[in-house]
Amino acid sequence: MALMSKKPKAAKAAKTAAKKTDEGKILSQREVMKDPLQKMAKDHLWMHFARQSGMESGQGVPIITKGDGHHIWDSSGKKYIDGLSGLFVVNAGHGRKRLAQAAAKQAEELAFFPLWSYAHPSAIELADRLADYAPGDLNRVFFSTGGGEAVETAFKLAKQYWKLQGMPMKTKVIARNIAYHGTPQGALAITGLPGIKAAFEPLVPGAFHVPNTNIYRAAEQGYHGDMSEEAFGLWAANEIERMIQMEGPDTIAAVFLEPVQNAGGCFPPQANYFKRVREICDKYDVLLVSDEVICAFGRIGEMFACNAFDYVPDMITCAKAMTSGYSPIGATIISDRIYEPFKHGTTAFYHGYTFGGHPVSAAVAMENLDIYEEEDLNGNVRRNAAAFKSTLEKLKDIPIVGDVRGAGYFYGIELVKDQATKETFNDAEAERLLRGYLSKALYGAGLYCRADDRGDPVIQLAPPLTIGQPQFDEIEQILREVLLGATKLL
Ligand SMILES: Cc1ncc(COP(=O)(O)O)c(C=O)c1O
Repeated sequence: MALMSKKPKAAKAAKTAAKKTDEGKILSQREVMKDPLQKMAKDHLWMHFARQSGMESGQGVPIITKGDGHHIWDSSGKKYIDGLSGLFVVNAGHGRKRLAQAAAKQAEELAFFPLWSYAHPSAIELADRLADYAPGDLNRVFFSTGGGEAVETAFKLAKQYWKLQGMPMKTKVIARNIAYHGTPQGALAITGLPGIKAAFEPLVPGAFHVPNTNIYRAAEQGYHGDMSEEAFGLWAANEIERMIQMEGPDTIAAVFLEPVQNAGGCFPPQANYFKRVREICDKYDVLLVSDEVICAFGRIGEMFACNAFDYVPDMITCAKAMTSGYSPIGATIISDRIYEPFKHGTTAFYHGYTFGGHPVSAAVAMENLDIYEEEDLNGNVRRNAAAFKSTLEKLKDIPIVGDVRGAGYFYGIELVKDQATKETFNDAEAERLLRGYLSKALYGAGLYCRADDRGDPVIQLAPPLTIGQPQFDEIEQILREVLLGATKLL
C-alpha cells in the first residue's frame, strides 16, 4: 500500500501529465504506464465486473475525463459517442450545468439527512412526483441508493407483506433466465446468470427461473410450437404459471421481470405477454415486480416502461436515469395494497439505507425530471424509435449479424456464425470476438457501447435520449465498419 503522504503528490503529477498528453494520441503499453493515473489505477483500483488481469498486465484502462451531450472524451483527448449512456444512466446527456447547480444548491442548504424517522423536502417532493408518474395505485416510494438495493427492498418487502397476510410460506420468487437484477445476495439470487452467482453460493434460497421472451432463441428455450409472436408470448408467460404450480402457489411471493430484458441483448415482451403474466399473478396471489432499473425514465419513451407495455405491477424498482447519473439514487415504488398492512399499530418495515433518498440526489432527480418535461425527452424517443430501429436493421446485410431487437432507445445486436442456421459462437470464439476484437475495435472507432456475452454474444446500445437520425447514422456507420472487420477475422 502506498504511504499516505505519497498520494497527494501522485495525484498532482497525474494532473500535470494528463495536460501534457497529446490530443487523440494512442499510447503504447510502456507509455501507458508512464501516465501516473494509469499507474495509480494499476496499483490500487479494483474494477467492477472485470478481470483484473488486464490491469495487472499493464495494458491500462480507458480513463474517461469529460462528457458533453452524447459525447465523452478520454484522458488522451479522444472523443467518443456515448452509445450506452454511461451504463444506461446518462439519459439526459452529459455536461448539464443545471443538474450540477441543483446538486450544489441542495448541498449548501442541507447536504445530508436520513429518512430514518425524519424527512427532508427533496425526498418528499420526489416521492410525490414518482407516485404521479407511476400507474395504478403505486403511491408509496421507498428510496435506496441504486438498482440492486431497490430490488433487494422489493424482495424483502414481498416476504414481509405475505407474513402480514398470514401466509408466511410465500417466500420464493420467480425471475427469467439470463436476467440481471443486481449484486446484493437477494437480488443476485433473483438474477438468472449462473456464471456470476456460482462464486457466492449459497445465496438466498428460493429463486426459480423460467424462459425469457427471446423469440429468436425460442427453440433453445424449449419452445417448438407456432412461431407467431402471440403463440410464443403466451407460452413464455404460461411458463411462469407452470413454475408457480410446480413450486406451489402458497410458497411464491413475487415474480421479478424487466419490461425489456437487458442481459442477453434486449428481449422486448410480445404484445400479449404482460397481460397474461398479470392474469397469472392475480390468479395465484403472486406479486408482480417490474424491474425498471434500466427501462424507466424514457429508455422506452415513458417515465415507467410498464406504461408503454400497458400493465400495472405491484411494485416498480428503478434507479440509474432518475438523476441521469449526476448523483446516485434508487427507489422501490409500492402499491397501496402492499402498503396497507404497514399503516397500522407497531408494524414497521425494518429496512433502510443511510444514503437512501439522499437530499442532493433527490434534488438532482427533480431537476432532471424537469428537463425531461421541458425538452419532451420521452416524446423524442417515441418519435424516433422506429427510425433508430430501421437504421440499426440495415446492419442485417452483414453476415455476422443475426438479430437486431429492442424497443425505444434500447437495442441489442446478436452476432452469429451463420445467419441461416443461427449457429452461435463457442466460448473460445466468443472470447476472441468480443474481448479480443469487438470491444477494442468499437472503442477505437469512436463508439462507446457494450459487447456482452452473458448470453449469446451481443452488442448493446442505449444512447442518450437527446439524439436523432444524424447520430443513428453515425452509430450505424461505425458498427458497420467494425462488424465487417469482424466478419473478415472469422
Ligand atoms: C434490471 C436491473 N436491475 C438491477 C440492477 C442493479 O442496479 P445497480 O447496479 O444500480 O445496483 C441493474 C443494473 O444494471 C439492472 O439492469
